Amino acid sequence: MFNHIKPSAPDPIMSLMEAYMQDPHPKKVNLGIGLYYDHQGNIPLMRAVHIAEQRLLEQQRPHTYPPIEGSALFARQVQTLLFGEAAAQSARHLATVQTVGGSGALKLGADFLCHYLSRREIWVSDPTWANHWAIFEGAGLRVNTYPYFDNASGELRFDAMLDAFSALPEGAVVLLHPCCHNPTGTDLSQAQWRAVIDVLQRRRLLPFFDIAYQGFGDGLEEDCFALRETLKTDLDFLVSNSFSKNVALYGQRLGGLSVCCGSADSAANVKGALKTLIRRSYSCPPTHGSQIVEALLADDHLRQLWASELASMRQRIKQTRVSLAAGLEQGGTTLDYRRIRDQKGMFSYTGLNEQQLSQLRQQYSIYLVAPGRMCLPGLNQHNLDYVTAAILDVTLP
Ligand code: LMR
Repeated sequence: MFNHIKPSAPDPIMSLMEAYMQDPHPKKVNLGIGLYYDHQGNIPLMRAVHIAEQRLLEQQRPHTYPPIEGSALFARQVQTLLFGEAAAQSARHLATVQTVGGSGALKLGADFLCHYLSRREIWVSDPTWANHWAIFEGAGLRVNTYPYFDNASGELRFDAMLDAFSALPEGAVVLLHPCCHNPTGTDLSQAQWRAVIDVLQRRRLLPFFDIAYQGFGDGLEEDCFALRETLKTDLDFLVSNSFSKNVALYGQRLGGLSVCCGSADSAANVKGALKTLIRRSYSCPPTHGSQIVEALLADDHLRQLWASELASMRQRIKQTRVSLAAGLEQGGTTLDYRRIRDQKGMFSYTGLNEQQLSQLRQQYSIYLVAPGRMCLPGLNQHNLDYVTAAILDVTLP
């Protein structure tokens, strides 16, 4: 019955993590998957998360079913986190549901686009997160690209991107990264976002924002600039968000899908559609992670503690960028170290080529995602010199 099933291609990011785990090299360094490690190389349990979870456990709540869409409090908190005061003041109406991580939000959004809007295509940035391709193709959408980043020069292809948007048919779905572009770490400036939103409006396109790293770019509020600017327009749009990274709740699989609609009736109907899709897929979301985040965001003290912990994580990544770039510059690298210094979020698109990546892995057990994405938080005081020396070695002219 199953003999015709061929071996599957391994996931390019998850399989790298597995290979790293199995590598016996004592100095191995994981710069692959988007995981935040602290300065000791540990995945942190954030203090605010720990306190919120303790409180939750003390309440000894039963593990009952949540509503299909998750709790109403969680949905409001997601809206406030993404849109701030603007959410309350806007004339637009948001339908928000809890999802199984940011990936689950993307899949739910993809199903919504297919089943309720009859969309058959989506346009993603070139390059984009490998799993965007898998999720959207898996949902039955044809995935097309728009120009985004030139790996040779390290520059954003901004004009080409605008031209591509201008040529898209009305109603075309474009996937955008509001901050911490994955994989390039190269974001749009506020002026560039305004220009993009202008074209989206003029061409009546349908933006699908994927914000998986809120708080890792310039700040919790600043990273939502594109979302908040788009909310001021009359455009309908989708937003997937994730709590994997910014609350370090990776394994709890917690995210949200918000759809911005023109009227309260439309938002209610869209929420009904999302509930239908959820119910026939996994019925309703898990509750432990969402209850932690609800408790954390509902308490001013915990919320501030969380925001300050997140700010320290962001600062540590920025400092790591500066240190690595300085080490490479001093060592006379041929690599464009300025990219590493200036890009934002967890990742740098280093410009290292496949052969150099393979050398880093074979000779030094240093793992990066092809074609050259480095996850900066994998670096710390114990391995920075080792990695710097290795990169200098593999990039020698
Ligand atoms: C990444 O890009 O490394 C993260 O988003 C983790 C993942 O699921 O791929």
